[in-house]
Amino acid sequence: MARKKRTSVHGQWSGRLAFILAATGSAVGLGNIWKFPYITGENGGGAFVLFYLLCVVSIGVPIMMAEVMLGRRGRASPINTMARLAREEHAHPAWRYLGWMGVLAGFLILSYYSVIAGWALAYIFRAMAGEFAAIDAEGASRLFTSLVQDPVDLLAWHTIFMVMTMLVVARGVRSGLERAVSVLMPGLFLILVLLVGYNIAQGDIVHGFHFLFDPDFSKLTPNAMLIAMGHSFFTLSLGMGAIMIYGSYLPDDVSIARTSFMVAGADTLVALLAGLAIFPIVFANGLEPGAGPGLIFQTLPIAFGRMAGGVVIGGLFFIMLVFAAWSSSISLIEPAVAWLVENHGMKRGKACVVSGIATWLVGIGTVLSFNYWSELKLFGKTFFDLLDYLTANIMLPLGGALIAIFAGWVMRRRSALEEMNMGDGAAFELWHFLVRFVAPTAVILVFLSAIGVLG
Ligand code: PFF
Repeated sequence: MARKKRTSVHGQWSGRLAFILAATGSAVGLGNIWKFPYITGENGGGAFVLFYLLCVVSIGVPIMMAEVMLGRRGRASPINTMARLAREEHAHPAWRYLGWMGVLAGFLILSYYSVIAGWALAYIFRAMAGEFAAIDAEGASRLFTSLVQDPVDLLAWHTIFMVMTMLVVARGVRSGLERAVSVLMPGLFLILVLLVGYNIAQGDIVHGFHFLFDPDFSKLTPNAMLIAMGHSFFTLSLGMGAIMIYGSYLPDDVSIARTSFMVAGADTLVALLAGLAIFPIVFANGLEPGAGPGLIFQTLPIAFGRMAGGVVIGGLFFIMLVFAAWSSSISLIEPAVAWLVENHGMKRGKACVVSGIATWLVGIGTVLSFNYWSELKLFGKTFFDLLDYLTANIMLPLGGALIAIFAGWVMRRRSALEEMNMGDGAAFELWHFLVRFVAPTAVILVFLSAIGVLG
C-alpha cells in the first residue's frame, strides 16, 4: 500500500539542484578551509588525512544518506521528524531526544563558528587595505594576534556575522543566499586552485604534498582518530539534523544516493585543495603546522602579500570564505528555528531573534577564550576548545551513530527501502549493511580507543 506523501510546512526545494546547492553550502564551510588544515597540522598529516577520508567514505556518506532519508520521510524539524518516525515505526518515543541533541549541538557549534567567521570578516578589510604587502611569517602572526587579543573587535565581528545569519534564516526562503552561493562557491574553488598553482610555481608544493599524503601511522594516536572521525561528521554537517532538515525539504523523486555522493565529493575536494594551498606556505616559511586555529590566518596572507594582484585576490578569498561560512551557519540554526515555529507557534522572525540572541551570548565565551580567558582551562582546554571538542568529537559522532541505528535497525527495512527509492538491489543492500553494522561499530570503536579502553 502506497503511503500518502507528506510535505513540510516550511516549504520545499525547487528541485534536485537547489538541494545539492544548499547541502553543499552547508557542508563546505570553515570546516574545510579553516579547521581541516589546522587539525591536520596538529595531528601529524598523512595518516590523519587517510583516516579522515576513510571515515568520510565508510561512515559519512552512508549516514548522510540515512539523514536525508529520515528527513524526507518525517518532513519536519529533526525533533518532530524523530518523534513522528518513532511513532510510525512503533519505536520508543525517546528517539525524539536524538533531535534534541542535534538542536543543542547546532546551537553550540554556531556560537563559536560565528566568532571564527568574524575573523574572516575582519580579514576581508585587512586584505583590501593592503596590510599583507610583503608580510613575512612573523608579521602575519603578529597581525593575527593583534586581532584575537582584542575582545571588542572580536565581539563586533561576531555580532555582525550573527546578524547576517539570522537575517537570512528569518527570510525563510533561501533563494537570495542560494543564488549568491552558487556564484561565490565556484569562485572560492578557483582561488584555492590559484593558490595551489602559486605553490607549484614557487616550488613549495612537494613538501606540502608529502605532509598531506604520506601516512606515518605512528602519529595516528587514538585521540587523533577521534578528531579525524569527528571532523568527518563536522565537515559533512552530519549527526545534528542539519542535513536531516534539508532532506525534509527535498522533493520525493530526487535520488538520495547520487546527491549525497556529489555533496560529499565536493566537500572532500575543497578540503584537500585547502590543504595544498596552505601547507606548502607553512613549510616554505618555517611556520609550525600545529599552530592551531590561527593557521590559515597566519599563512595565506604571506602568499597574498607576495603575489601580483594579491590585494584583490586576498580580499576576494576572504569574502568567499565568509559566504561559505554563511551558507553553513544558516543550516546550524535552522533545526532550532523550525522547531520553535512548529512547537511554540512562533513566527519565523521571532524564532530567529530568540535563537540568535541565545547563540550570540554563548559566543561571548569563545570571544573571551582567545584573550581574557585564555588561561582559564577545564580538562586542559579553553572554553572554545572544550566546546569544539564536545560538539564535533562527541555529540556529532554520537548523533550520527544513533541516526544510523535508527535507519538500520529501528526503521523497518520496507520503510527505508521505500524512502530511499533506489531499488532492492546490491546498492541498497550495501547501504543498509553500512548503516546497520559498519557505521555504529566504527563510532563505538573509535570512542572506546579514545577513552583508552582499547589500549
Ligand atoms: N559543515 C560545516 C563546515 O564544514 O564548515 C559546519 C557544519 C555545518 C557542521 C552544519 C554541522 C552542521 F550541521
